[in-house]
Amino acid sequence: MPILTFIEHNGTHHQVKGEIGQSVMQAATFASVPGLPADCGGACSCATCHTYVDEAWLDKVQAAQGMESDMLEYAFERRDNSRLSCQLIISEDMEGMVLHLPSSQF
Ligand code: FES
Repeated sequence: MPILTFIEHNGTHHQVKGEIGQSVMQAATFASVPGLPADCGGACSCATCHTYVDEAWLDKVQAAQGMESDMLEYAFERRDNSRLSCQLIISEDMEGMVLHLPSSQF
């Protein structure tokens, strides 16, 4: 069970246990992490699960592609390390991964 750390825009840290194969969004919402409304429930159609993958972890995930990249065009303050957390599937090599939450989501 990889432990993920979510950091809110105000600096508050949340450590969450994730299940292999579960989405990062699911791990966060099941643990009631604020700042990830995930309005569409993971259907890649709302962009309210926007996260920034910490720079130190970028080699563990691919950049957003296809439909996810298109949907990120609607996200506030998209950056090169932006990902929709419903499209990030937890794997063993994500143990310790840090994700930052945008200021627009609370
Ligand atoms: Fe809606 Fe991720 S939960 S796009």
